[in-house]
Amino acid sequence: MANLLIWAHRGASRVAPENTLSAFYAAADAGADGLELDIQLSRDGIPVVIHDETITRTTNGIGRVRDLSLRELQALDAGSWFSPEFAGEKVPTLSEVLEAFAGRLLLNLEIKAPRAGRVVLDLLSDWPQAKLLVSSFNWRLLAMLRHAAPGLPLAVLLESRCWLRALRVARELSAVSVNPRCDQVGPLLLAACRRQGVPVTPWVVDQPQQLERLNRAGVSGVFSNDPATLLSCRRHLPISREMD
Ligand code: G3P
Ligand code: MG
Repeated sequence: MANLLIWAHRGASRVAPENTLSAFYAAADAGADGLELDIQLSRDGIPVVIHDETITRTTNGIGRVRDLSLRELQALDAGSWFSPEFAGEKVPTLSEVLEAFAGRLLLNLEIKAPRAGRVVLDLLSDWPQAKLLVSSFNWRLLAMLRHAAPGLPLAVLLESRCWLRALRVARELSAVSVNPRCDQVGPLLLAACRRQGVPVTPWVVDQPQQLERLNRAGVSGVFSNDPATLLSCRRHLPISREMD
């Protein structure tokens, strides 16, 4: 079996509403190695798990996450937009996710709201058993986190073509991974990361053929909305040595 990690992107978001406890439990049940979740901050400064700056796409409300208190956010229905089966699903807090999964699965906390960085760091001190890393597209935020927490595992996200800069930042911050959008992963990026000893973890990968190609190319893991499918494909993949 290949040694690459399968991360559930926003949980098993193909089969349950993204970034909800149902999606995270579905990913755990499928056997995912880790959970990826997105973090915004409520008006009263509580880290909550939701991708967008607004609640419009993934709840029954309208407005910005940062304009709503935790109480208001948790009164929303974050499941019906996906399917009536998930009616009443809540926007979870980061603490709720840690409570359920810390020490059980790897956690990739993607910080969306820059103001959440410091708050998340404070909260993590209560969860020494959690096996986690913090990722962000905001490289300044990552630099702040590195300064404040020298031992915290970090990953550098990028969606544009500027992977050389991302790789430089990853080296400067001693990041554990560079995480490019899947279509940005080419031979030059892979060779440069391999030379510099920086693992590559692309997103989002849902097709077995993509997984086979990326495994041959030597990536360390992938983020997938459909971890169950990729996990069954992984069983048949050879161990890749490309990045060794
Ligand atoms: O962490 C990988 C991926 O989640 C980054 O993009 O927009 O899905 O948060 P996005
Ligand atoms: Mg994300």
